[in-house]
Amino acid sequence: MNGTSVLDNKKINNKTTDNKTTDNNVPDSKISGNKDVNKIDVQNLDLFYGDFQALIDVNFSLSKGDVAACIGPSGCGKSTFIRILNRMNDLIPSCRITGNVLMDGLDIYGSMDVTELRSRVGMVFQKPNPFNMSVFDNVAYGKRMQGVRDKRRLADIVETSLKKAALWEEVKDRLYKPAQALSGGQQQRLCIARSIAMEPEIILMDEPTSALDPIATGRIEELIVELKKEYSIIIVTHAMHQASRVSNKTAFFLLGELIEYNDTRDVFTNPRDKRTEDYISGRFG
Ligand SMILES: Nc1ncnc2c1ncn2[C@@H]1O[C@H](COP(=O)(O)OP(=O)(O)OP(=O)(O)O)[C@@H](O)[C@H]1O
Ligand SMILES: [Mg+2]
Repeated sequence: MNGTSVLDNKKINNKTTDNKTTDNNVPDSKISGNKDVNKIDVQNLDLFYGDFQALIDVNFSLSKGDVAACIGPSGCGKSTFIRILNRMNDLIPSCRITGNVLMDGLDIYGSMDVTELRSRVGMVFQKPNPFNMSVFDNVAYGKRMQGVRDKRRLADIVETSLKKAALWEEVKDRLYKPAQALSGGQQQRLCIARSIAMEPEIILMDEPTSALDPIATGRIEELIVELKKEYSIIIVTHAMHQASRVSNKTAFFLLGELIEYNDTRDVFTNPRDKRTEDYISGRFG
């Protein structure tokens, strides 16, 4: 870790573990799922793709209701980092991690069931990716997969999720039409509704507005501000104004290191690391 890194979370010690194993040095309170612990705690995380180290000793924490923005130049590990949090990297055979990733104090690479984890940690991608089915079926999909069959209950879940995603008014008369017929911005809100339907605790968003026009972007940003009342959110963005508008915490990544993680206001007005200052003022990246 770079000596100038600014981290507002505690670093418990300086060990690493073998591939995806629980750390014996994690305090008992971290193993018990205790409510006082952070929603997410990432401790001493190293990630390798084969021989290439894409994340270097990352320490990060997120409290309930936080919106954290991940910023940094292309290729610095932002997507890699958020994919860790719902174990999307498991799908990449060359990927290996050491360190701890805790959710409510529990090691997500330990005994936690991956399907359960992914229902607790939703993900919205850069490009809207609605399934090739109706608006209704997209939102109901996850709950049906969990075994919910009751039509009325499914209809309630779909309506509530679409309302929370600020899409209901636009689609309530076309619920059974193909999702692909929606505009890009509507499709992205549909993907957010699909994620919300699973009642996640955390929503990860990887550049969710980069494919959208300014109006659709504005809608999603308003939505994020609304959603943070109920969910913790981590958003990757290249847009500095977006990070400052929607987040209360900002993480600046550079070449795999989390250089600075602090209150968004401080990162943008009083960065502690010269490299953060250079990046946010447009001097590189
Ligand atoms: N599946 C993979 N296999 C090998 N290397 C990878 C893989 N995915 C990402 N990398 C490498 O890891 C590094 C971090 O990539 P990542 O996609 O996390 O960056 P990023 O910060 O999200 O970039 P961008 O802003 O362009 O989306 C890059 O050097 C990339 O080439
Ligand atoms: Mg990325």
